[in-house]
Amino acid sequence: MVDPIPQLEDLQLRKSTRVLVRADFNVPLHDGMIDDDFRIAAALPTIQYLRDKHCSIVLCSHLGRPKGAPDPKYSLAPVAARLSELLGQNVELSPEVAGFHSVGIAQSLAPGEVMMIENLRFAPGEESCDPAFATNLCELGDAYVNDAFGAAHRSHASIIGPPRVLPSAGGRLLAAEVDALGRLLGEPARPFVAVLGGAKVSDKLGVIDALLARCDTLLIGGAMAFTFLAAQGYAVGDSLVEADRVDHCRELLDTGRIRIPSDVVVAREINATAETRHVAATSIPTGWKGLDIGPETAGTYADEISRAATVLWNGPMGVFELEPFAAGTRTVAEAVADCRGYTVVGGGDSASAVRQMGFADDISHVSTGGGASLELIELGDLPGLEALRKGLA
Ligand code: 3PG
Ligand code: MG
Repeated sequence: MVDPIPQLEDLQLRKSTRVLVRADFNVPLHDGMIDDDFRIAAALPTIQYLRDKHCSIVLCSHLGRPKGAPDPKYSLAPVAARLSELLGQNVELSPEVAGFHSVGIAQSLAPGEVMMIENLRFAPGEESCDPAFATNLCELGDAYVNDAFGAAHRSHASIIGPPRVLPSAGGRLLAAEVDALGRLLGEPARPFVAVLGGAKVSDKLGVIDALLARCDTLLIGGAMAFTFLAAQGYAVGDSLVEADRVDHCRELLDTGRIRIPSDVVVAREINATAETRHVAATSIPTGWKGLDIGPETAGTYADEISRAATVLWNGPMGVFELEPFAAGTRTVAEAVADCRGYTVVGGGDSASAVRQMGFADDISHVSTGGGASLELIELGDLPGLEALRKGLA
C-alpha cells in the first residue's frame, strides 16, 4: 500500500479560487499532430471537478525534453487546442511559462475558465528544481493540484515546489493511479504474474527485484530477454545484449521464478519488409537479431496470464510498431484483456500497444505513467507524493 495523500476534497475551494494544476500532457506528437490524447483525456475529471466548484484553472505541463529554452517543436499549442475541444471551451495558451504575462492572464480568468502556460521545460529552473522558478509558478495560483502521475517521479520545480507554499492536493488521476498500482503492493490475489518487456534489462533490475519479492512468476520478453538468454549460455546472434548484466541475470534465473522465451522471431534488419525467421531461442543464427517472442513462448505466456488472479504488464514483447514483430505483444495484450483477474498495464509503450490494439477497455487499469509506475512499484513512493504529504509543514 502507498501512504495516503491529500485529496481534492481536502482543499478549501471558493468561487474563483485560482488553482494551479500540474498535469502530464507529455503526449506523442508527429508534425504537430497528437497521436494519442490519452493523457489529455485522463486530466478531465480533475478539471471538471474544479470547474464545478467555479474555480479558475491554470494548467501547466512539460512536453518532450527541450533543453531549458523555448523550442517551437515542443509547444503545448496542440495540447491546448485538443483540450479546448474536449472541454467545449477555449483554453488560452500563454506563450510564456511563469512571469508577468502569464500572471496577467491568470488574474483575468472568470470562474470556470481554463488557461495553460507554455511548456515548463522551456524554463531552465524546472528540471533543476530552482526555488525562484517554483516561487514564480506559485504566483499563478491560490492552491495547487498535482495530477501529473506520469511525472511524479521527477523532483522538478513544478512537482516539489508548490506544495511547500500553497494549499495542495493530488488530483483525481493521481489518486486513481496510486490506488490501482498500490493494490499490487498490498496483498494482491494469487497467483500474481508479472510480465516485463522493453529494451534494456539495466533499466529494470530494481523493479525485477521488487517484483520477485511479490509475484509468483515473472515472464520476460522484449529485447531485455536476450541478456537472460545469453546468461543461459545460448547463442543470441546480433540481438541486443547488455554484457555487463549477464551475471546479474544468471542470479535472477537461479530464483526459478523467471520464464524466458523458448522461441523468437528474428530478422537481419529492423523494418516492416525485412525477411523474418522463426527459430528456437537456443540457436539464433549469426547476423540475425531477435525482434519478437515466438508463437510457442507467446502461447505459454498467455496460459500463465489466463490462470493469474493478478497481472502487471510493463513493456512490449517485441518491436510491435512493425507488423512482422507485433504478434507476441498482441497475444500477450489479448491474454491480459481476457484474464478475469485484476490486471494492470504500466504506461509507456505497452499502454499505447493495448490502446492501439483495442484492448484497453478490458484491462482493470491502464496507467498513464511509464517510469513513474515502475518507480512506484519499486520504491513504494514517489517524490511528488511525498511533497503533497509534507505540504506546508
Ligand atoms: C513520461 O512520458 O514518461 C513522463 O511524461 C515523464 O517524462 P520524462 O521521462 O521526460 O521526465
Ligand atoms: Mg517515458
